[in-house]
Amino acid sequence: MRPSGAQEMDDHTPRVLFVCLGNICRSPTAHGVFRAKARAAGLEVITDCAGTGNWHIGSAPDRRAQRSAAARGYDLSDLRARQFIPADYERFDLILAMDRTNLRDLEAQRPQGNNIPVRLFRSRIKTDATDIPDPYFNDNFDEVLAMIELCADALVKDLHRKGQP
Ligand code: 4NP
Repeated sequence: MRPSGAQEMDDHTPRVLFVCLGNICRSPTAHGVFRAKARAAGLEVITDCAGTGNWHIGSAPDRRAQRSAAARGYDLSDLRARQFIPADYERFDLILAMDRTNLRDLEAQRPQGNNIPVRLFRSRIKTDATDIPDPYFNDNFDEVLAMIELCADALVKDLHRKGQP
C-alpha cells in the first residue's frame, strides 16, 4: 500500500531521502553509499539528500567525508547541498534522519495529512544507539562511514525483501 501523499509516484521505484543538519557530511555519505549498494544489488531506487539547515546550500560534501568515502570506493563529488523543504514529504516514500534532532525538525515540517514514514537511519540495524553522530566537529569520518555502510546494507536488504520502504 502506498503512503498517502505519494500517489503520483511510480509504483515500483522506492524514493528515499536522507537528511542531516548541514547536508555536507552524513546525509551525502548515506546518499552516495546507498546508491552504490543499491546499484550493486540490482535494485532500482531514486534517492536524494538534504539538510535541515541552510548554511551550506550549493556546497560539495565536506572534503573529509569525500576522502573517507573515496577510500572505500564511493564517489560523492557530484552531490551538492540543499535545504529540506516540506514539499519533500510529497516526493519521497521514506525519509531517513541521521539523528533525533533531525527527526524532530522534520516532523515539525510535516504537511497536514501526510503520513509517509520518517525514521532514524540507525534504527535499520540492531543497536541501542539511535543517532549517526555528527562528524563535522569530531573528525570521526571513517567511523561514521562504517556505520552508514551497515545501515545502507540493511536498507538495501529490506527493500529487496519488501519492494517498498
Ligand atoms: P552534517 O554535519 O549534518 O552531517 O552535514 C554538519 C555539517 C556542518 C555543520 C554542522 C553539521 N555546521 O554547523 O556547519
